[in-house]
Amino acid sequence: MRRWILKAGTTELDGLVLEDAPMPEPKAGEVRIRIYAVSLNYRDQLILRGQFGSRLPERDLVPISDGAGEIDAIGVGVETWAVGDRVTGLYFAWLRGIPEGDLGFGLGSLNEDGMLSEYVVLPVNRVVRAPASLDYAEAATLPCAALTAWNAIHSGHLVGAGSKVLVLGSGGVSLFAMLFAQAAGAQVIATSSQDAKLQRWVELGAGEGINYRDTPDWGKAVFERFGGVNKVVNAAGAGALNQSLTALSYGGEVALMGLMTITDDPLEFVSLLSKGATVRGIAVGNAEMYEAMVQAIDTHKIRPPIDRRFRFEEAKDAYRAQSSPELFGKIVIDLA
Ligand SMILES: NC(=O)c1ccc[n+]([C@@H]2O[C@H](COP(=O)([O-])OP(=O)(O)OC[C@H]3O[C@@H](n4cnc5c(N)ncnc54)[C@H](OP(=O)(O)O)[C@@H]3O)[C@@H](O)[C@H]2O)c1
Repeated sequence: MRRWILKAGTTELDGLVLEDAPMPEPKAGEVRIRIYAVSLNYRDQLILRGQFGSRLPERDLVPISDGAGEIDAIGVGVETWAVGDRVTGLYFAWLRGIPEGDLGFGLGSLNEDGMLSEYVVLPVNRVVRAPASLDYAEAATLPCAALTAWNAIHSGHLVGAGSKVLVLGSGGVSLFAMLFAQAAGAQVIATSSQDAKLQRWVELGAGEGINYRDTPDWGKAVFERFGGVNKVVNAAGAGALNQSLTALSYGGEVALMGLMTITDDPLEFVSLLSKGATVRGIAVGNAEMYEAMVQAIDTHKIRPPIDRRFRFEEAKDAYRAQSSPELFGKIVIDLA
């Protein structure tokens, strides 16, 4: 079989190498998945550049957290999965409730191999069922971006009919957050650095878009135009936290997962306290959330937003496309 390896210590695409490897065999409690599609996230760029948790991959690593495929072999004692099951990986070994300890950095980082491989072996608790209504390319987009968005929308403060949700930037997490918020009956307001993308947001159903480059005080604009929002999905980062608090209505929540902007500015305690606001840190999500997300995707016929698709041999082009300013939706690599 073939797999892509990110060489230890690498910080550029030159360190991404296609190689032949022996077929992995599942041991007791493990399954083998024939991978049909993988999908990239911003975090895969950070890992490539050695900026994820400020640590380089500690060894040669199969990169990319998100992939979907079919179980083609099971190890001794496996009863929960059968050959032929359509599955994706689970980002963290986190099944339910709150994280009980350090979750690490997820599949395809540091010392955990990821999905950019024709076959992958995983323990049974790192495998989750794919939605019946999605093909493999669509299912491959779920484990990181979609689950993070699901956690943001459906954990913490409730989002439902009449809620207003603000999503920051047009990345994969934001797009999924809009789809899930819309399915729950909420009104969505989007931001982007590009007017052309704002137009696409509106075509997808966002009530309104705000250009965060042209309107640096976008939090105030949101509060004044909409009376504030119940939830901000902050996929931008801590540098956008004060504006997020400004955008909130009273009693609202900022779901914070972004790693793109940092700041030395002090937190605006007055907004936080006077609004009774909540800031909730997000670490992707757990298996229980994933199962609820899969059910909602099948019920509401939610289709993941795929931007471009590449062949397995074109993995480097896929990385380039994922970091392009033109990105609008998920980048998929097909292995079938
Ligand atoms: N904590 C977690 O569990 C978790 C999970 C998943 C993702 N994340 C983080 O969430 C962020 C989004 O991930 P992703 O995979 O969805 O990214 P992505 O698909 O690569 O999104 C890229 C988009 O982010 C937007 N962006 C960049 N800088 C921004 C800024 N300063 N303010 C607002 N938007 C900005 C841009 O949108 P426009 O072109 O429209 O401006 C850009 O096109 C990343 O920082 C990622 O590391 C965290």
